[in-house]
Amino acid sequence: MKFTIFDPITRSQKADAAEDTPAHAVDAPTIGDVIAARMGRRDLMKGALGFTAMAATVSPLAFAAGQAKAATSSFDFPELGAGVQADHAVADGFDADVLIRWGDPVVSGAPDFDPANQSPEAQAMQFGYNNDYVGTVPHPDEPENQNRQLMVVNHEYTNEELMFSGLGRQDRDAEFSGMTEELVNIEMMAHGGTVIEIVRGDDGKWSTVLNSPYNRRITPSTLMVASGPAAGHPKMITSADPTGRNIFGTVNNCAGGVTPWGTWLMAEENFHGYFMGPDPEEGTEDGDLKARYGVPGGWYTWGSYHDRFDTSKEPNEPNRFGWMVEVDPSNPTSTPVKRTSMGRFKHEGAHVAQAPNGRIVAFMGDDQRFDYTYRFVTTRAYDPANPDPNILDDGVLSVARFDEGGKMIWMPLVFGEGPLTAENGFDSQGDVMIQTRRAADLLGATPMDRPEDVEPNPERGTIYVMLTNNSRREVGDENAANPRAENLFGHIIEITAPGGDFAADEMDWDILVKCGDPAVAEVGATFSPETSEDGWFGMPDNCAVDAQGRLWISTDGNAFDRTGRSDGLWSMETEGDLRGTSKHFYQVPVGAELCGPHFTTDDESLFVAVQHPGDGGDEWPEFGRTSTFDDPSTRWPDFAEGMPPRPSVVAITRQGGGKIG
Ligand code: FEO
Ligand code: CA
Ligand code: CA
Repeated sequence: MKFTIFDPITRSQKADAAEDTPAHAVDAPTIGDVIAARMGRRDLMKGALGFTAMAATVSPLAFAAGQAKAATSSFDFPELGAGVQADHAVADGFDADVLIRWGDPVVSGAPDFDPANQSPEAQAMQFGYNNDYVGTVPHPDEPENQNRQLMVVNHEYTNEELMFSGLGRQDRDAEFSGMTEELVNIEMMAHGGTVIEIVRGDDGKWSTVLNSPYNRRITPSTLMVASGPAAGHPKMITSADPTGRNIFGTVNNCAGGVTPWGTWLMAEENFHGYFMGPDPEEGTEDGDLKARYGVPGGWYTWGSYHDRFDTSKEPNEPNRFGWMVEVDPSNPTSTPVKRTSMGRFKHEGAHVAQAPNGRIVAFMGDDQRFDYTYRFVTTRAYDPANPDPNILDDGVLSVARFDEGGKMIWMPLVFGEGPLTAENGFDSQGDVMIQTRRAADLLGATPMDRPEDVEPNPERGTIYVMLTNNSRREVGDENAANPRAENLFGHIIEITAPGGDFAADEMDWDILVKCGDPAVAEVGATFSPETSEDGWFGMPDNCAVDAQGRLWISTDGNAFDRTGRSDGLWSMETEGDLRGTSKHFYQVPVGAELCGPHFTTDDESLFVAVQHPGDGGDEWPEFGRTSTFDDPSTRWPDFAEGMPPRPSVVAITRQGGGKIG
């Protein structure tokens, strides 16, 4: 029997797979088969026993390790049991409180959420769907006050079957037959981002400030400008915008970042999915460019009502997406800027640090199978006394090549250097940026297993690369940095910058951990033996480094039929005898993935984004059918009749106060 556990079905799974080609046929038993067979034996039973019983399970690995030595954990919390359930859960001694949910009012005048009577106008003023990146920036009026901040949140995409009553899944297979212009416009307004003021009370709990003048929704209709080398390039010009600089909106904003000058970076990830139109014409410049990015993806039917999302009408519109967008939350009427200097690809995020010479460095992943890891370094040093609002327009984008023996180099994507010349079809630096992927191909970058977050750790001078999975890496396609064929569970690379210099061109690398169940030999996971049966995970996606320099990892893709556990947040030891030991801290409700993780600078609060709760449903035996608005697998977080599951940002605090973990 061919297992199809990783074939994308729902929009979430498509987004997760970020893939343009159909799955190849598998004849021999695969690791997936082995895992699935094992789930049938052990984890189906675990599911029946339920969540609490699982927490009491003693891992043989942990038992053996416990006898060997007693190393001291950097993390002070009792491990949470791993399983699948309708509610979320956090380690004992901590509170996990919902801060804001899909549909909650954001800007003044926003109506209360009424899911049965949603409108584009209401949604444009309310919290969007599928919260992904979460960050905070200092409050413009009180920058020193840690109890008053602006929270910035990305809304990556929408799931119609969970948002609208009686609709079911809407995709090409269903010919989008249930979609209307009204529903498309609601979907659009549920994308983008939110700025909302938050305050912390004396009890340490956070709440949103509904009448704050800083609150703002960013949507696919918000006017933005392109700046940097690709702004105004002929490939950026459309019939509506002869300047090639004025762009409406942003889509599929996945992870992101915040800068030392208090702006928010929104990554445009799976933008290809929003375009419909004919298959690209192979062998033409435009066709090859589209094909390299999977345009048109046809995940949505926006182009039926908005010409710019139909490539037969606006062939250049896709070139205006796939960028990093910088937003100034301190000015709610500011125009967001697409920083074309930072390259065009399926941007996961952009995590910013400073090099010893004062330059700003951003690390970024291109989340597609066999695509690359990137870094951007500004030309000028950052001067906090006199911040340059356009510092991100000038700099060098580089792509990573990981070599055998633990060395890696960052190779610059500069027009005129190496193969990036007119001879190879580039006419300018802007053109190199528009065609970032092809430029990186020509430089011989290392094809990775889907780079998600790439996060610097300034405490330790290291950089962590989350590689979420790659089921299509075949035997013979492995490389030193991506050593597993059919890598279902992903791995994490740790890069060490010499002397903590994030702008250095040569660095060292090592694999921190290969993910998956350590008890299944075929998986080849390499968690430390001290990792308990609840402590391992697969599919690392986002991560955070807390103020103490400790690594935390959130996941996307763990599920009952894959791992017997939901997605969540795990702590990870990176140093000493315990290196590679992970520990389970927070678990999402069934069907969700976990995004965000973001610590306040005092490490006393942790914000996480629970994305697409109730998605799927078939794979969870307790539910066993497709989850929809009318019949969802969970009604988290409200658990109220008639209320669908709602993507939400959760604030986690220690009971009685103190640092997280
Ligand atoms: Fe939107 Fe790469 O996750
Ligand atoms: Ca992600
Ligand atoms: Ca994800």
